[in-house]
Amino acid sequence: MKIILAGYMGSGKSVVGQELSGKMDLKFLDLDAEIRKQENLTIAEIFAEKGEIYFRRKEARVLEYLLEQEESFILALGGGTPCYGKNLQLIKNSAGATLIYLKTGLLQLKQRLLSEREHRPLIKDLGSPEVLEDFIRKHLFERTFYYNQSDLIISTDDKSVLEITSEIVDKLN
Ligand code: S3P
Repeated sequence: MKIILAGYMGSGKSVVGQELSGKMDLKFLDLDAEIRKQENLTIAEIFAEKGEIYFRRKEARVLEYLLEQEESFILALGGGTPCYGKNLQLIKNSAGATLIYLKTGLLQLKQRLLSEREHRPLIKDLGSPEVLEDFIRKHLFERTFYYNQSDLIISTDDKSVLEITSEIVDKLN
């Protein structure tokens, strides 16, 4: 069993994944963390020193490697993972994998990302809250096509992490 969490930056993939991991007694993996470990660089450093194309290639390779493993786990993707190359098809064709989209509205994403911009290379230079909001609106619109192909879609707005994980567990049963 592989539970794979997708969603925009700031949708709570990592925190929900960790909570779900305790609840379901499954190992938790974070795709960005696996990439960081292999590269020995932060995601921001990889973008700055090697560029986004390098990052996307690495992301696809690490994803493919993880999906080939026999073991069960919960995996938090990066916000862009399902939107590039063959990643979405790889996940959809992977035996035992369930893709879950954590669907968070524009205003909640903006609130969260305003204070967490500096670690995220794609948004770190967006100056004002209005510019950030415009960026997220357009980017989310482009990515929703991919996210919506998930097996399960869970709205996260105004829900606690515990409520979100309980909803996922209920829907998986
Ligand atoms: C990205 C999201 C990030 C990280 C990288 C690119 C994206 O992950 O993979 O900065 O394209 O949305 P989080 O969604 O965990 O922030």
